[in-house]
Amino acid sequence: MTTFNLRVNGKPHTVDTDADTPLLYVLRNDLQMNGAKFGCGLGQCGACTVMLDDAAVMSCLVPVSVVGERAVRTVEGLGTADAPGVLQRAFIEEQAAQCGYCIAGMIMRATELLEQSAAPTDDQIREHMMPNLCRCGTHMRILRAVRRAADTMHAGPGSSTSSTSSAGAKA
Ligand code: FES
Ligand code: FES
Repeated sequence: MTTFNLRVNGKPHTVDTDADTPLLYVLRNDLQMNGAKFGCGLGQCGACTVMLDDAAVMSCLVPVSVVGERAVRTVEGLGTADAPGVLQRAFIEEQAAQCGYCIAGMIMRATELLEQSAAPTDDQIREHMMPNLCRCGTHMRILRAVRRAADTMHAGPGSSTSSTSSAGAKA
């Protein structure tokens, strides 16, 4: 057992665990942050995606010992049920979730994109979201939700978009 000091969603946490424990397990089991999900445990589905500083990572592949000083951000830090963040609201408005298992990871992957690019093209959205899989097959609604969030952010604070521009399909 080793003691690790983590900063998650802006708050400090101390955990005692083995150095090779995946960050995903620490978030879920030690910190009770259950937004990030265990899907494959192999870096192949993206259900566990969180942000480490400015990069989206698959937290099932990140040993807690390599996190160090980097800021961890999870879907819990983006908003609440009463006050969802822009991406969370867009996913609700586009009804992007079916079972919802992939959604926290999708939102964190999209967070990375929208922090890198204020006005991504539909092709850029599609390519960026590719590592994250949805078993329910709501990909087109997910792409529309990211488009909606990008349009809202691009329009500036206080705007509300009724954009129906799609990422390329009508599903
Ligand atoms: Fe991490 Fe699937 S659970 S990529
Ligand atoms: Fe069920 Fe994506 S909504 S896996």
